[in-house]
Amino acid sequence: MVRTKAELAQARAALPGRVAVVPTMGALHDGHRALIKRAKEIADSVIVTVFVNPLQFRPGEDLDQYPRTLDADVAMCEAEGVDLVFAPSEREIYPDGREDVTKVHPREHGEVLEGASRPGFFTGVLTVVAKLFNLTRPDVACFGAKDFQQQAMVRRMVGDLDFPVAIETVPTVREPDGLALSSRNAYLSAAERRTALAVPRAIRAAQAAAVALAEEGVSEHVDRAERVRGAALAVLEAEPGVEVDYVDVRSDLLSIPFAEADAARILIAVKVGNTRLIDNAPVVIQ
Ligand code: PAJ
Repeated sequence: MVRTKAELAQARAALPGRVAVVPTMGALHDGHRALIKRAKEIADSVIVTVFVNPLQFRPGEDLDQYPRTLDADVAMCEAEGVDLVFAPSEREIYPDGREDVTKVHPREHGEVLEGASRPGFFTGVLTVVAKLFNLTRPDVACFGAKDFQQQAMVRRMVGDLDFPVAIETVPTVREPDGLALSSRNAYLSAAERRTALAVPRAIRAAQAAAVALAEEGVSEHVDRAERVRGAALAVLEAEPGVEVDYVDVRSDLLSIPFAEADAARILIAVKVGNTRLIDNAPVVIQ
């Protein structure tokens, strides 16, 4: 594990072959592990970065509570055969303070969905990802489909700003009961965790509704999307303890067509108690 940019530069120079980076905020779980495993498959050397980026948290969000488990994170990386872990301090990344830095601003796409609920969030994400790309100089970078808008925004940045980095999106890893793995799941009480299962249930309802609509022959795409959305919303609204932030069905995001040509995507954000959870999945709306 290295903590400074100078140590990183030295260790990076010694890495052979095609290099993958997996940017994380630590508290690594099996979702992150899937990214690391994919990185191992598609590259010769793998760098994991662990940095809780203060620039993507607003005052009042969970920056201070965010779980920090560096020893366990390094152990997981070692077990997975990661070549290099970069875990810098805040001062190393933002030597002049987190506000006094040149920032990468997304276009208006950064103001919808997550960006609407968390103003400035994607500016913080893209700024740190740009810095991490310049520091680690990867050939490829792995991001999770769990944060669907994030991987789309990163793809967009890489295209717009000509970063020589390929972006690999890795499918969402879920618990056996359907809950998407997230570092923030650690905040949930046992009761809240049961409540949170309404989210994967809502996704399944949306997918089932899409299949039923196709069989019924409802032809208007807009009608279908609205009815699919309604099926998910009904499940969430029936669950006391779930506060809906947004439910949206989209067939493209940021003008980047989805990988599955015929699939739209349902995107959900809710609050359960004080914990904000997001999830998304493909829904077939032809
Ligand atoms: P973090 O929340 O730690 O997530 C790091 C990466 O792991 C992201 O690409 C995220 O999409 C992926 N990930 C998280 N849970 C997942 C799951 N259940 N299945 C598959 N992938 C999952 O996202 C961030 O950190 C930060 O915004 C970061 C990109 C590091 C910039 O600070």
